[in-house]
Amino acid sequence: MARFVPSRPMSSIRHLLDRNRAWASRITAEHPGFFQGLAAQQAPRYLWIGCADSRVPANEIVDLAPGELFVHRNVANVVVHTDFNCLSVLQFAVDVLRVEHVMVVGHYRCGGIRAALEETSHGLIDNWLRHVQDVALRHKPLLDRRDDPDWRVDRLCELNVVEQVVHVARTTIVEEAWRRGQPLALHGFVYGLADGILRDLGIEAASTAELRSHYAPAIARCAGNG
Ligand code: CO
Repeated sequence: MARFVPSRPMSSIRHLLDRNRAWASRITAEHPGFFQGLAAQQAPRYLWIGCADSRVPANEIVDLAPGELFVHRNVANVVVHTDFNCLSVLQFAVDVLRVEHVMVVGHYRCGGIRAALEETSHGLIDNWLRHVQDVALRHKPLLDRRDDPDWRVDRLCELNVVEQVVHVARTTIVEEAWRRGQPLALHGFVYGLADGILRDLGIEAASTAELRSHYAPAIARCAGNG
């Protein structure tokens, strides 16, 4: 059998494996038995639904260790009721792991949100971003208050988080959890790339009634931001 000779792309990724070894050794030195404990079970209290953007790494931002945060990320942190990927993560988190909090986390200057506001075509992803365009259409009068493109992107980043929290609340998974009295709170945050700070958009809800009462004030606050 011919010996496998690493090509250049392979050698350029090699350093990640080296960094992984160093990381695992460091953690084990600081917390002996850490990985054996995690391998036995995971019991995170939080589900993070965020953007795939490399600048928004879930665990680092909230300073949580492996095992403490269940994570789903996609372009522009969208929750679609026919997306079995996101719904499967949500169901496992709520029904099996019994997380106590689900947070939708957007970020300012999101490339997906910007693309949704632009007229230009980006290929396949346009179909995914239609969901964000639906949010923009719903809040057109608010977004049209200013001409400034960056202001419009940032407001749509916030509005999109609020609407995706509503989508999470309206899944059968969350509706049924609330119906059976399972403690479960939803939250909407937006992250600042320029300052590393997470901001609460005030759409937290532990019931349908609470969501209903927080929705309009949250949208109004988006209008006043920036
Ligand atoms: Co983004």
